[in-house]
Amino acid sequence: MIKIIKATLQDVPVIQSLAATIWPVTFKDILSQEQISYMMDFMYSDSALEQQIGVHHHQFLLAQQNNNYIGYLSFELDYKSDTKTKIHKIYLLPEVQGQGVGKRLFEEVTALALQHGNQTLSLNVNRDNSAVDFYKRIGFNIVGEENIAIGNGFLMEDYIMERPIGLPM
Ligand SMILES: CC(C)(COP(=O)(O)OP(=O)(O)OC[C@H]1O[C@@H](n2cnc3c(N)ncnc32)[C@H](O)[C@@H]1OP(=O)(O)O)[C@@H](O)C(=O)NCCC(=O)NCCS
Repeated sequence: MIKIIKATLQDVPVIQSLAATIWPVTFKDILSQEQISYMMDFMYSDSALEQQIGVHHHQFLLAQQNNNYIGYLSFELDYKSDTKTKIHKIYLLPEVQGQGVGKRLFEEVTALALQHGNQTLSLNVNRDNSAVDFYKRIGFNIVGEENIAIGNGFLMEDYIMERPIGLPM
């Protein structure tokens, strides 16, 4: 059975451990090893996660299967003071992908965003990530693209994708 729970600061080590397993597999054919290591530190160090949760109001959901953690999603309500909810991260262990857990996490965040009065879900995804097709499957459209410089000469080469929250999943 899949359970979705809200994470707290105490769950930071769980998020870090899941990311350390999922990230290298997800990006092995998309980013260099150097960029993966750089981004892991940039996004998942203790201080980075504490900033995201404590300062930038990112909320993390954790997915559990038989009491084991299998993935996470992070989101931010009222993104840039707009009626948008930004999905910052969604990562599932390779062995549970394709079993509907990603969709479950999106149903959960959609309910929370709707309850909060937001109207749009928005996210960035690497243009070479096959997750683009997952997002299309659950109703997202590509609305733009951007290359974001993240330091050390590295770029995030993303699509921006959005979906109206009211649209049935
Ligand atoms: C992307 C991800 C979150 C999707 O979650 P998931 O649990 O694997 O997807 P689901 O099983 O909920 O799939 C929902 C639907 O999308 C489809 N789908 C999922 N991944 C897909 C893909 N890569 N390409 C095409 N369709 C896909 C499924 O077939 C399913 O379709 P259906 O409703 O007709 O059965 C998950 O695969 C993952 O963690 N991937 C690695 C990390 C990653 O890339 N994260 C995104 C970073 S921006």
